[in-house]
Amino acid sequence: MLAIKNLEAGYGKVKVLHGISIEVPKGQVITLIGSNGAGKTTTMRAVTGMIKPTAGEITLSQTRIDGFDSYKIARLGLAHSPEGRRVFSTMTVTDNLILGAFPRLTRSRPKGDVNGDLDRALELFPRLKERRNQLAGTLSGGEQQMLAMARAIMLNPEIILLDEPSMGLAPILVDEVFKIIARLKSEGVTMLLVEQFAAAALNVADYGYVLENGRITAHGPAEKLKNDPAVKAAYLGGSH
Ligand SMILES: Nc1ncnc2c1ncn2[C@@H]1O[C@H](COP(=O)(O)OP(=O)(O)O)[C@@H](O)[C@H]1O
Ligand SMILES: [Mg+2]
Repeated sequence: MLAIKNLEAGYGKVKVLHGISIEVPKGQVITLIGSNGAGKTTTMRAVTGMIKPTAGEITLSQTRIDGFDSYKIARLGLAHSPEGRRVFSTMTVTDNLILGAFPRLTRSRPKGDVNGDLDRALELFPRLKERRNQLAGTLSGGEQQMLAMARAIMLNPEIILLDEPSMGLAPILVDEVFKIIARLKSEGVTMLLVEQFAAAALNVADYGYVLENGRITAHGPAEKLKNDPAVKAAYLGGSH
């Protein structure tokens, strides 16, 4: 589905990613874990076209997408729930969700049942349903994070990139978000999940990659990574 090969990217002269390779097979949840500043968000930005890779290849369902503009990548069915509450604060929750379906409304993606999917997204996130007529800017940080995730689902995407969906959430909401990820997974949704909260990410994922200073230093089935002593010591607090 998504294949990242020897990807290099950064900001100006500063190289952040030094040739990373990640595969996300259809129907699977792949997690990319790593500490703050490792380059996780930069990886997401390179895949979604927000920054241009300086080397390597990114392929989405047989199409080379590296170098494409973001809107074109979205049309191909790649949805992005960015880090840190990137919602349209002066629009309502419902309007933010409908905007997530924009490429469908303009028929640059199959239209399908947008209203049905809106109902479904609101069912998935009851907190958003209660607040559907509220301006997004008045939601709590955690609710905005959920809105970004729900908006990504509204694309009816082939694959969803989730950048730290648990960030800034109260523990009870973190559980809720991971339950939603597990439910989407059970429905066959393909996901690339970036998390600092490695234990929970490895619990829901099929396969994981560890990113350190812009390089993949370990990868393997999630179950195996969870029991890897080095991964445990560095990312699982040793107690999981
Ligand atoms: N817009 C930017 N301009 C310049 N450097 C950046 C920018 N965003 C991130 N960086 C740098 O890139 C590195 C990786 O950051 P990031 O990808 O955000 O890491 P992570 O998401 O894993 O915490 C860091 O050293 C960070 O300072
Ligand atoms: Mg980040």
